[in-house]
Amino acid sequence: MRVAMLTGGGDCPGLNAVMRALARKGEAVYGDELIGFRDGWRGPIEGNLETVSIETFRGTLPRGGTVLGSSRTNPYKVEGGPEKVKATLAEHGIDALVAIGGEDTLGVAARLAAEGVAVVGVPKTIDNDLSATELTFGFDTAVQVCVDAIDRLHTTAESHDRVMVVEVMGRHAGHIATWAAIAGGATMLLIPERPFDIDEVCEVIRRRHDRGRYASIVVVAEGATPKEGTMALVSGEVDAFGHVRLGGIGDQLAKAIEERTGFETRAIVLGHVQRGGTPTAFDRVLATRFGIAAIDAVHDGAFGSMVALRAGDIVRVPLAEATDELKLIDPKVYEVAEAFFG
Ligand code: F6P
Repeated sequence: MRVAMLTGGGDCPGLNAVMRALARKGEAVYGDELIGFRDGWRGPIEGNLETVSIETFRGTLPRGGTVLGSSRTNPYKVEGGPEKVKATLAEHGIDALVAIGGEDTLGVAARLAAEGVAVVGVPKTIDNDLSATELTFGFDTAVQVCVDAIDRLHTTAESHDRVMVVEVMGRHAGHIATWAAIAGGATMLLIPERPFDIDEVCEVIRRRHDRGRYASIVVVAEGATPKEGTMALVSGEVDAFGHVRLGGIGDQLAKAIEERTGFETRAIVLGHVQRGGTPTAFDRVLATRFGIAAIDAVHDGAFGSMVALRAGDIVRVPLAEATDELKLIDPKVYEVAEAFFG
């Protein structure tokens, strides 16, 4: 078979591991010819593709990012986009496409599958907010980056008796923030699922300081929002999928905390550091398992499906289901973090 692959959306540690596994089993076991589209959906729209093989991915297992490049291009927002994708697939005799991405990339894959394109999805996002899979690769790496940073921030915060506000990624869901808060021993956690009251946040920090010289670490997900009318937030540009570019809640929160409590406060935005660099061993294994399962799905003709982790097994779920709803933080996990507030 001629099998193509693409990586779309924000990059993520483990993308190369997925493609390495696709190439390994595709070429060595199934005798496939493999194609890589450049830069997500922009590749098939513009006909930008290259032949890939086991050799292409040699040495990429520990390498972050994606050797094929990525973009947030949405074919359904480009004039004639879906038709161009289909025409490219036909022109190059591509029998199947493996789309590796998050809710946006897989949403496009689901629509194309419904229109008859032979596509299999692989879930990717450091945010871990896809409901059809228990975990996405990249999440473990992102959490580890945050925890390494928080461990370092504890000592400088204690030396200066400061409040440190650590802004982490998480547009709609607070998975990274919650895991980082638990593993990093945070004083306070603010996530998109629970709009916060700035006065309550300050009260927790004040109580902690009243007990002695205790520095505070406040972990805030970039998508966290204040309860109505309590704090005004500045928002950024909108991308092709309609998402506002986030980043900035940490600074605004740090200012508000310092103003209200009088405690010296600093904000640290971890940003894209969370997405870069080498994947953890856990993410390499999960990504590799997804890659092997995806090429098997292609050869079983399981088009319109996505591979997913459920109860420790890799299973297939309908692509449409994969993008149906976001996976928010389990309140029981949030409560674990909450037990350590203050
Ligand atoms: O979707 C993954 C993600 O890392 C989000 O956590 C974050 O909001 C967004 O991507 C950042 O996007 P960009 O790299 O386009 O700034």
